[in-house]
Amino acid sequence: MTEAGLKPEIATARVLSNAAYSGEYRELRLDVTSISGRVKPGQFVHVRVPGLSDRVLRRPFSVFHADMDVLCVLYKVVGQGTEVLASVEKGGNISVLGPLGNGFPPVDESAFPVLVAGGYGVAPLCFFAEHTAAPGVLFVGGATASDILCVERFEKMGWDVHVTTEDGSMGQRGLVTDALDEWLGECELDRPPEFFVCGPDGLLRAIGERCVLQGWKGSLSLDKHMGCGLGACLACVQRLRGPNGEEFWARVCKDGPVFDAEKVVWQ
Ligand SMILES: Cc1cc2nc3c(=O)[nH]c(=O)nc-3n(C[C@H](O)[C@H](O)[C@H](O)COP(=O)(O)OP(=O)(O)OC[C@H]3O[C@@H](n4cnc5c(N)ncnc54)[C@H](O)[C@@H]3O)c2cc1C
Ligand code: FES
Repeated sequence: MTEAGLKPEIATARVLSNAAYSGEYRELRLDVTSISGRVKPGQFVHVRVPGLSDRVLRRPFSVFHADMDVLCVLYKVVGQGTEVLASVEKGGNISVLGPLGNGFPPVDESAFPVLVAGGYGVAPLCFFAEHTAAPGVLFVGGATASDILCVERFEKMGWDVHVTTEDGSMGQRGLVTDALDEWLGECELDRPPEFFVCGPDGLLRAIGERCVLQGWKGSLSLDKHMGCGLGACLACVQRLRGPNGEEFWARVCKDGPVFDAEKVVWQ
């Protein structure tokens, strides 16, 4: 795709459905063909919530699935914006800015894909899995069973899914990193693992540090509060490390949200 083809635009999307998905999560399905046909896995859209008194700020959501006909996001109601979003009805219109961000790189042909997700981090990884020809392994973790999403969807695509919950209500009890470390200790891969991770900072950092220590490739999708989504307001900056060890600020919305694990400086 050309640079021009990747240019974000603002479009009016028609709501095809906006319904409960699983646990506290909802799926918003939009008809917005000018954006949906050209989204890469790991990119996101910036959604203006209609009727919200704070009309300036949009809310960022990863793309869960997109094709020529539909663009889907999977979201959790956590505050005012998502609460109002949950009340938008089928047939309504929403302003969407996208596609935004860089997205995940494709899996290196000489590597074995290992996806690690926490919470809604599973959404962009599901879209990534749809676009990955040879399935690998997914580790998905959460506090409790209702935080675990899309297991069947990954399994249908041929991925080996490992679930962990902190309270033991689904899968193995503990942290997703416990299950991952056990698996890494036992598996006999004929290729190095390559990690694709989306979730809370603690998870990103834990996997990022393992990648740096072992020399594995890792792509981390960072989550920052955002303003403009276009690289102008600097609300979303993250410290990175360059090839000579020099540090600099990057904008998660425009330079990311996906960064090489070895480049991210954790503070
Ligand atoms: C690149 C990107 C992709 C995202 N993808 C998804 C997704 O696929 N599904 C989904 O449910 N959410 C996603 N989010 C988070 C989502 O944008 C926020 O949950 C949403 O903006 C909250 O809006 P609100 O008005 O309901 O909450 P607010 O009233 O603004 O905040 C409510 C609570 O949520 C916290 N919060 C707000 N924004 C974020 C954020 N970016 N990260 C962590 N905590 C936040 C606030 O600190 C506060 O505690 C993504 C965020 C980014 C940056
Ligand atoms: S949100 Fe404005 S620069 Fe990233």
